[in-house]
Amino acid sequence: MTPLHRIEERLRSLSFRQAFGLVAVANLILIGLAFALPADGGERGPAILSVLGNFHILALHIPAAVLLIVPMFEFFERHEQATSTVRRLSVFSAAGTWGAVLCGIFHAHFNGFEGDAVQLHLWGGIAASIFAGIASLLLSQGFLLRLVGQVVAIGVMSFAAHVGGELQHGDGFPFKPNKSVLTQRDVPPTPVVDNGQKRDDYAQVIAPILEAHCVECHGAKKVKGKLRMDSLEALKKGGSEGSAFVPGDLKKSLMHVRVTLDPSDEEFMPTEGNALTKDQVQAFALFIEGKPIPDDVAKAAIAATKAPKQAPKK
Ligand code: HEC
Repeated sequence: MTPLHRIEERLRSLSFRQAFGLVAVANLILIGLAFALPADGGERGPAILSVLGNFHILALHIPAAVLLIVPMFEFFERHEQATSTVRRLSVFSAAGTWGAVLCGIFHAHFNGFEGDAVQLHLWGGIAASIFAGIASLLLSQGFLLRLVGQVVAIGVMSFAAHVGGELQHGDGFPFKPNKSVLTQRDVPPTPVVDNGQKRDDYAQVIAPILEAHCVECHGAKKVKGKLRMDSLEALKKGGSEGSAFVPGDLKKSLMHVRVTLDPSDEEFMPTEGNALTKDQVQAFALFIEGKPIPDDVAKAAIAATKAPKQAPKK
């Protein structure tokens, strides 16, 4: 008898009330941790805990896949009583979802995540763990009730996974092409203005610069200064200090103000890594003033976004 068999026997010997208590306590721990370790944008040590958090992205795929195949086994086996295969898969998916959410709470808290989308994903994940737990409690019930429990758990998990997918790959994922794929493939690498077709300066010049230099701290996952820079509307809306993009007004457009300060200024952007090049700053200025960005400036500005990142400035 392996240790796994022993665990299985222990779990099977639990009364319904005991099993309910176990699922309830496990998920209350997650809820407690979500409050104790909030996703508030702070980046923290110790490194080992933030590494554990990084495993969230790996860990979550395993229970998600197992949760999805439980109904398949139910249909193949179609027993009024849950077979041991179904039991093992269902309990494993509940425990695995719990573990993935635990890693996720660490991930968000230690690696500086914040914002509405992160909160939605966090609580969606906790709900998925609760419903996967309920599905495993329903194992003592008949075929139909078990199936309903699993389908509901899959639905909640899919919602949480979708929000997580959008965090990772951008709004509209998976039904829209990935933004970085867009900038790499669909946008001509050397934009032209002189062939009679007007270039979309925002989409083809400004957005790729923001994507490469700013969005890592000003996007869905991290919203420093309450400012997102992943769309034109978000730039106009601005952050806690006001709009980042005020057409025609360089002094009020914080996306320009912050990149033209003295690099030693605390408010200089980006706070770490590559400062913008002269051409990139000029592209921002022309765009804010509503003037077309000349070809050579656009080309040089885009080329500089592809430069490898330098070590963060002290
Ligand atoms: C490594 C993280 C990081 C990167 C990259 C970064 N920022 Fe920031 N940004 C911050 C932090 C932290 C704050 C909040 C503190 C502050 O206001 O200085 C902030 C605040 C801002 C604000 C003020 C928002 C407000 O209304 O309070 C603007 C504007 C801004 N950043 C522009 C930029 C631009 C433009 C880029 C890209 C060139 C950029 N940032 C890249 C971390 C970053």
